[in-house]
Amino acid sequence: MVESMRTRLQSRLIKRQQQSLLRQRRCVTTVDGPWVVVEGQRLLNCCSNDYLGLTQHPDLIAASVQTVRESGVGSGGSHLLTGHFVQHQQVEERLAAFVGAERALLFSSGYMANLAVISTLASRHDVVLADRLNHASLLDAVRLAGARSQRYRHVDVINLEAMLEITTSRSGRMIATDAVFSMDGDVAPLHELQQLADRYPALLYVDEAHGFGVLGQGRGALAAAGILPAGSVIMMGTLGKACGVGGAFVAADRDIIDGLIQFGRSYIYTTALPPAQAATVSAALIVLQKESWRRQKVLELAQEFRHRAVTAGLPLMPSATPIQPLLVGDSASVLAIWQRLWERGFLVAAIRPPTVAAGSARLRITLTAAMDLPQVQQLVSALVDGFGFMA
Ligand SMILES: Cc1ncc(COP(=O)(O)O)c(C=O)c1O
Repeated sequence: MVESMRTRLQSRLIKRQQQSLLRQRRCVTTVDGPWVVVEGQRLLNCCSNDYLGLTQHPDLIAASVQTVRESGVGSGGSHLLTGHFVQHQQVEERLAAFVGAERALLFSSGYMANLAVISTLASRHDVVLADRLNHASLLDAVRLAGARSQRYRHVDVINLEAMLEITTSRSGRMIATDAVFSMDGDVAPLHELQQLADRYPALLYVDEAHGFGVLGQGRGALAAAGILPAGSVIMMGTLGKACGVGGAFVAADRDIIDGLIQFGRSYIYTTALPPAQAATVSAALIVLQKESWRRQKVLELAQEFRHRAVTAGLPLMPSATPIQPLLVGDSASVLAIWQRLWERGFLVAAIRPPTVAAGSARLRITLTAAMDLPQVQQLVSALVDGFGFMA
């Protein structure tokens, strides 16, 4: 039996390799602003989620170092036992105030937060209506909850409404969506989703992993749409992307957060984040508000990238966020372009199935505030060369 499991795994690995889908980890040794040294090669990092360039910000480093000195490097326990520090409590209060929610709750990752929210609220009697391009962690959360899953066409509110109409009123309903789609960069139609959530009625759960820190004065895509995480709206924000640190939070009404503290298994049965990490997030929140130029800069660089890429005839996708994917199609070609860019000193992400649908492999380019305009221009030239090389 054990051998058959091993054999099955081995044949899956071989298949991945044959289909150009094998993933490889590469060690980063140094980070210096937008530059990274990976396996001895200095590269311009064009695929980081550190959108605002905060991972090396001196205020964040100072907060981290000071708290490590005062409280040590780890929390030593879960939140409900001995691991809940004053730094966790403070950052939860600051996050709630920042996004305009009654309460916020800290998680060790966005993956864990999504698991907790959906599995705490939805049961097998309920329906979770999910955008087809939602992040894997949202899909996994619905599976864990055992809820009925219905996936509507990407950002298609008409398709969603048709599905809502045929759900029975006896089952609870939740609409779950990425705010900014992680592999596409486009933004969910949050206004329309809220209207549908009111009309049917349903809870609206919004994963702001790529919106928080960047859109809506840093408060996220919900804030940009004028929607607060209150009543039927629940927000999840991650802290390892635009915030530059790690972890995540859920912002919602008091009763939802109270429920997560009591019943959210991926909140309860895990070690709390190191207190220094919570203190670093508090420092990041201050920087987010004080240094609004970072947000402006990354959005301007994204626009500039689009402008130049369109002029150069590159296969851009519709996105006004720092996530700017270029559609390639097949996995072998995306790897070949990736390799060409690497050789020219640019690090991009080659995104292949199953992360995206078959036939839609792409380069995922992200702009960050650590980059500058000449670097964006050089990136576009390198991409033109890479795509030309494949043509
Ligand atoms: C849309 C989305 N949700 C959730 C996550 C998970 O967040 P974390 O990396 O904090 O686990 C990610 C990325 O990692 C993401 O892109």
